[in-house]
Amino acid sequence: MQPDWSLSDIPYDRIDVDAVRPREVLFYLVTSASFVEIASDLYTRNLAEFYAGDAEVCDWLTSVWEREEVQHGHALRAYINTVWPDFDWQRAFDAFIVEYTPLCDLGHFEPTRGLEMAARCVIEMGTAGLYRSLATVAKEPVLAGLCERIKTDEVGHFKYFLRFFQEYNRSEKQNRWKVLKALTHRLFETRGDDAECALWHAFHERDPNGRRDSAEFRQIFSSATRAIRREFPSMMAIKMLTRPLALPPVVAKSIEWPLAMLAQRVILR
Ligand SMILES: [Fe+2]
Ligand SMILES: [Fe+2]
Repeated sequence: MQPDWSLSDIPYDRIDVDAVRPREVLFYLVTSASFVEIASDLYTRNLAEFYAGDAEVCDWLTSVWEREEVQHGHALRAYINTVWPDFDWQRAFDAFIVEYTPLCDLGHFEPTRGLEMAARCVIEMGTAGLYRSLATVAKEPVLAGLCERIKTDEVGHFKYFLRFFQEYNRSEKQNRWKVLKALTHRLFETRGDDAECALWHAFHERDPNGRRDSAEFRQIFSSATRAIRREFPSMMAIKMLTRPLALPPVVAKSIEWPLAMLAQRVILR
């Protein structure tokens, strides 16, 4: 199945390069997102292994999910190459992938197939929220439009993982506490590390003498985090997060606020 859009739909030639180039935080946000997206094949391999024997899941992971995630990475990379052509994206990515690969092992998966599907919903919620936020932060029409396309794909991924969770849970019959544990576990355990790792390798490529514990790098990391958090669509995130719990509306309402706080932790801690 072909993705709904391709790089040829993105009008890179209409970017106001001179206006965007001085925006350091944007450079780091787009570069780090491109690294993590292009590395999605690492997860596909591990997920396909975890769901071995489930032909529908494995087919979707390899023929749709991975292709779309990797396309996100290539589209963001093309944006970087257009605005910051001096940046050696490939060399920075090569260094990133060495550190990143061991973070993607099966040890990070939930104990059952159904609970892992619920946990994947958290990741897709996080990426949908990230790109919604980045579309606002961008203030540049080409990047904003690209982020909106990516966000739509991420919401589509969420819907697939949610459906797969519901199907598995018909036989697993996990109670809500177990599902909630899987959701919060993934919120806390994952992927602030991804963002920090990706951002560091973008930074290090630009400043080979820079240090990871330097005030300069920490400043860039916290500026990037703040920019995304400021525009993060909490209500959208809450609605997505509570879907696997299938809560009665009155209960869902009562936990909206704490979940909104947790939701922000999934990105760029
Ligand atoms: Fe993606
Ligand atoms: Fe996704």
